[in-house]
Amino acid sequence: MENMAVKMQGITKAFNGVKANDHVDFYLEKGSIHGLLGENGAGKTTLMNILYGLYQQDEGTIMINGKIEDISSPVKAISLGIGMVHQHFMLARPLTVVENVMLGRKSRRGILLDTKQTAQELAAVSDKYKMGVDPYSKIWQLSVGEQQRVEILTAIYMGAQTLILDEPTAVLTPQETELFFDTLREMREDGKSIILITHKLEEIVEIVDEVTVLRDGKMIGTKKMDPSVTKGELTNMMVGRDVLFNFPEITKQPGEVKLSFRNICVRNDKGLPALKDFSLDIRESEVVGLAGVDGNGQKELCEVLTGLRKADSGEMTLGGEPVINKEPIFFINKKVSYIPEDRHTTGLALDWSLKRNLIFKSIGKAPYSRNGLMQSKCINAYWEKAKDEYQIKAICGDEKARSLSGGNQQKIILAREIDVEPEVLIADQPTRGLDVGAAEYVRNKIIEARNNSAAVLVVSADLEEILQISDRIAVIYDGELMGILPRGADTYEIGELMMGKREEVAVSGK
Ligand SMILES: Nc1ncnc2c1ncn2[C@@H]1O[C@H](COP(=O)(O)OP(=O)(O)OP(=O)(O)O)[C@@H](O)[C@H]1O
Ligand SMILES: [Mg+2]
Repeated sequence: MENMAVKMQGITKAFNGVKANDHVDFYLEKGSIHGLLGENGAGKTTLMNILYGLYQQDEGTIMINGKIEDISSPVKAISLGIGMVHQHFMLARPLTVVENVMLGRKSRRGILLDTKQTAQELAAVSDKYKMGVDPYSKIWQLSVGEQQRVEILTAIYMGAQTLILDEPTAVLTPQETELFFDTLREMREDGKSIILITHKLEEIVEIVDEVTVLRDGKMIGTKKMDPSVTKGELTNMMVGRDVLFNFPEITKQPGEVKLSFRNICVRNDKGLPALKDFSLDIRESEVVGLAGVDGNGQKELCEVLTGLRKADSGEMTLGGEPVINKEPIFFINKKVSYIPEDRHTTGLALDWSLKRNLIFKSIGKAPYSRNGLMQSKCINAYWEKAKDEYQIKAICGDEKARSLSGGNQQKIILAREIDVEPEVLIADQPTRGLDVGAAEYVRNKIIEARNNSAAVLVVSADLEEILQISDRIAVIYDGELMGILPRGADTYEIGELMMGKREEVAVSGK
C-alpha cells in the first residue's frame, strides 16, 4: 500500500520569469507531521499554494495517495482531502463560526444546510481535537489563537486528511502553541498528515517527524528528525552558512525620561477596559521590553502612544510636553515610529508599489519630493539601500507589495519605520514571520536605534527576544503593569508575572 499522502515531483513555478519553485520534490508520509523550512522568499507558500490548487505548476506532477492528480482549484484540493490554513486568515469577521463554515460550503455545493446540525457537528469535531471552539461565537470576538482553531476546525470538518498550516504559530503565545501542538498530535494519532511551515526551529525540533528545506526555490534536502538533529544544523541547511548571533555593543547608558505614561485608562474595540491606570517611563537610549500574553492591553498601549486610539483618562508626555490624545500625524511629525502588530492590514498598501510603501510617510516631503515633483533618483537610491540592507527579495521597486512573500512584506515596513532615525520607536512583535537571519538583523537595528538615543518600546510574546534586547522588562497582565524587572531577569519570574501572579514575587522597580 502506498504510504505517501502527497508526492510532488519536479515542481517548477515562475512569476515574471523568476522561479519561486525550481524542480522541487516534496514527499509527505501518511500520519506524519512534516516541517517545511526556508528563509523568507524561499518558496514555501508557493509550493503549498500549488498543492492546494491556488496556483498551477509550470512543470512537475502531483500524486495524492499514489494517484496522479491535476489540482486545478481549491475545490478540487478539498475534494481530494487537502485543507489549508493561510498565513493570513480568511474568515468573515461579523459572522459566527458556524455561519462561516456554511458560507464556505454553500458556495461550494449549492445546498442549504441546517445551522443547528452543522453547529452540532462542528462542536463534535472541536471536542474530539480539544479545540474548545463555540460554533456560535462571532469571529471578531475571538482571539487570534481562537480564530486559528476555527480555521483548522473548518478544514477538518470539510474532510481534510492532509492539512497545510502556513506559519500557524507566528501569532500564538507559548501557552497557545502547546495547546495547538496537542491538537496536532491528536490528528497524527488519527492518521492525518500535516505540513507545518514555521520559522521557529524549536518547534521543528519539538513536534516534527521529518523536515524539508527550501532555499531560493530549490529543494536542499530532507531530514528525519531525531534528538541528534540540532537547530544549528537546520539553520545551516536553510541559509547555507552559520548564522552568527552577535549583538552590537551597548554604547550609551539610558538618559532622561523621554516618554512618560501616567494612569492611562483606555478601552478596547469591544468597549471593555484594556489599560487600567497604566504608568510607565521610557528613557532616551533605552529599550523597554513589554512582556505579556497577547491581548492584555499591549496593542491598545501602542495605539494610544501613536494617536490611533483615544484614552479615557491619564497623562502622557513626550520630551516633557503633554501629548495625550493628539492626532496620529502629530506623532509622525515628532518622529514616533510604529511597527504595528497586524502588518498585513495596517502597515502596508498591498496594491501600491514597494517604493511607494517605503516612502509612504514622507510622500510630498523632501528629499523625496521637491516643488511638488517626485524625486525618483532619490527614491530609487533609498529603495536600493533598503533592499540590500534588509535583503528584501523582490524583482524591482515598482512591483506591488502583494507579490512579495509574507516575510519580505514585513521587511518593507521595518525598513520604513526603523531607518528614519526615530526619536521614539514602538515595535509590536517586530520579528514575527521573519526567518532567523532577518530576525537577527532587525534586533540589531533596534539596538542601533537605541544607541542613537531613541526611546524604544518592544512588545513581544517571545521571551528570548525580550531578554536579548531589553534594558528593562515591563510585564503587563489584564491591562495592568505587574512589575518592572532589570536586564537579565529570570524567565520563570517573568512568566509568573505574565500570568498575573503579582503577590508571590517581589516587584523590583527602578
Ligand atoms: N503572486 C505572485 N506574484 C509574483 N511573485 C510572487 C507571487 N507569489 C510569490 N511570489 C514570489 O515567489 C517567491 C517565493 O515566495 P513565497 O511566498 O513562496 O516565499 P515563502 O518561502 O513563503 O516566504 P516567507 O517565509 O516570507 O513567507 C518570492 O520571491 C515572491 O516574491
Ligand atoms: Mg510564506
